[in-house]
Amino acid sequence: MICTVIILVVCICSTGYALNNGLALTPPMGWLHWERFRCNTDCVNDPDFCVREQLIMQMADRMVSDGYKDLGYEYVNIDDCWLARERDAQGRLQADPDRFPSGMSGLAKYIHSKGLKLGIYEDFGTETCAKYPGSEFYLSVDAQTFADWGIDYVKFDVCNSDSGDSNFGFPIMGFFLNQTGRPMIFSCEWPLVSAKPNFTAVRDTCNLWRTSHDMEDSWEMLSYVIEFYGNDTNGLSAYAGPGGWNDPDELIIGNFGLSYEQERVQMAMWAIFAAPLLMSVDLRDIRPASKALLQNKNVLRINQDPMGIQGKRRTIVSNIEVWTRPISPEGTVAVALLNVVGKGMPTRVTVSAKQMGLSNTNGYNLTEVFDGQPIGTLTPQESYTVKVNPSGVYFFTANPL
Ligand code: GLA
Repeated sequence: MICTVIILVVCICSTGYALNNGLALTPPMGWLHWERFRCNTDCVNDPDFCVREQLIMQMADRMVSDGYKDLGYEYVNIDDCWLARERDAQGRLQADPDRFPSGMSGLAKYIHSKGLKLGIYEDFGTETCAKYPGSEFYLSVDAQTFADWGIDYVKFDVCNSDSGDSNFGFPIMGFFLNQTGRPMIFSCEWPLVSAKPNFTAVRDTCNLWRTSHDMEDSWEMLSYVIEFYGNDTNGLSAYAGPGGWNDPDELIIGNFGLSYEQERVQMAMWAIFAAPLLMSVDLRDIRPASKALLQNKNVLRINQDPMGIQGKRRTIVSNIEVWTRPISPEGTVAVALLNVVGKGMPTRVTVSAKQMGLSNTNGYNLTEVFDGQPIGTLTPQESYTVKVNPSGVYFFTANPL
């Protein structure tokens, strides 16, 4: 066993194995259970909200009937706590039989029959974060099990593992997933084991990778993550592009913790970040305004821009952060003016074209993103003045004339 692992590590390192599954050419879109439904396994007292196949099927139904699927939300992803406490007699993982009576292959068939894809969660360590069986020492058999079940997306965590081992374990898991011949998105939490992750290696192995803390249902956590991206911590923006994406974690739009303005901020910033869009919300019971944000075609188009260039914070003017992302067609820029301060009245700000990097000699047509309305033109010598709401965003595109 040890011998096999050593040989594999040597092979993978010396052949420069790299992920080449052709997936995630734009940031993956879908739903993920964790932030909203956590490890709620109490189906006796909380039958409608516990993690079980019925919940997952209902979300898939809503993704189809309520128009999410038609807009590109495709992956229905289960997170931790789906597992039985023991592997089967052959050493394979099995789903909790009471909560997943159809088994994962039955659930995958259902999800596929809706034209959607199924994602699952495991952990590189000996146990998942919620203490269900982990994949360490079973990487090959688990990759094959996922393929046999018809899984389309694997989120792989780092709890209960040695950080040194993860640096070998993630590429090896990526190798085994590829070996199955079934295309599966590989979503990694690998960077979280180190303060200075090797993003070149991560990008070579994973289609998306978590970059910071778990999202929580609060403005504090959302603004923390935005600041992390604003500082371009570890130069992470350079690694995003077709096939591999920085993952700031789930969208919490539609839950309990954000105001409407703050929900707009998350949607706009995830578009600027070229971030995966994984909704974690109860789609059976979502406010119409939140649903409309998740389904805003103009924002989705920016998020899914085929060039896949991650946007950055360029500067800060009167406490307003100026974020830009180059998008297609060539020369177009998405601009987010972000007010992270939650005090009282809107902030009136004047930002020059130069501060936004808008240098096209003929100038630009400006269009507000959320409502798609034209808002005027701007030459490289001019400035733009606007009011930005507290903990809010003003989001527009500049199209070269
Ligand atoms: C970790 C991950 C989360 C989630 C939980 C599940 O905290 O970062 O995204 O998967 O584990 O236990």
